[in-house]
Amino acid sequence: MKGEVAITNYGLRITSFHFRYLLVKIVLLMLGIVFLVACGTTEAVPTPARDLTEQELMGQQVFTRECAACHSLSTETTIVGPPLAGIATTAATRVLDMDAKTYILTSIMRPGDYIVEGYGNTMPDNFGRRLTGEQIDAVVAYLLTLE
Ligand code: HEC
Repeated sequence: MKGEVAITNYGLRITSFHFRYLLVKIVLLMLGIVFLVACGTTEAVPTPARDLTEQELMGQQVFTRECAACHSLSTETTIVGPPLAGIATTAATRVLDMDAKTYILTSIMRPGDYIVEGYGNTMPDNFGRRLTGEQIDAVVAYLLTLE
């Protein structure tokens, strides 16, 4: 009889040990989720609503290399040029009767044509020569995802 009790106790002890371990895991998981949610809400850079296409991904790389030194993707940060968060929406309102795509393309090829109020005419005007047509199309496609 004594032997049986001992076995039962042992069994109980194992169970409670596992239970405590499980609780620790749940608490860690919850902390992890809270951390991720907190990061997500304070993150100022907009995340696109869908996965980027191959062309848009290429455009994102061009942007990082050629444009990000002057243009942030957060409305809270201005580097040299205007932040480009939401440019797909803003671009359609800049020039009467000009769609977003044409405005963005014009801004890259002939930045002097339309100067955004409050900024100097300091955007380089040689992207048309320095980048390939494919790279320019790609960066335009990428900017059009920033609604
Ligand atoms: C040396 C800094 C600099 C670099 C590099 C630069 N820009 Fe600009 N950009 C500016 C400035 C300054 C303006 C505002 C004056 C103007 O309208 O030309 C501007 C304006 C723009 C606008 C118009 C924004 C609006 O709100 O209407 C777009 C679009 C744009 N840039 C895209 C790009 C892209 C794409 C690249 C990279 C291929 C790039 N820029 C590289 C400085 C820069």
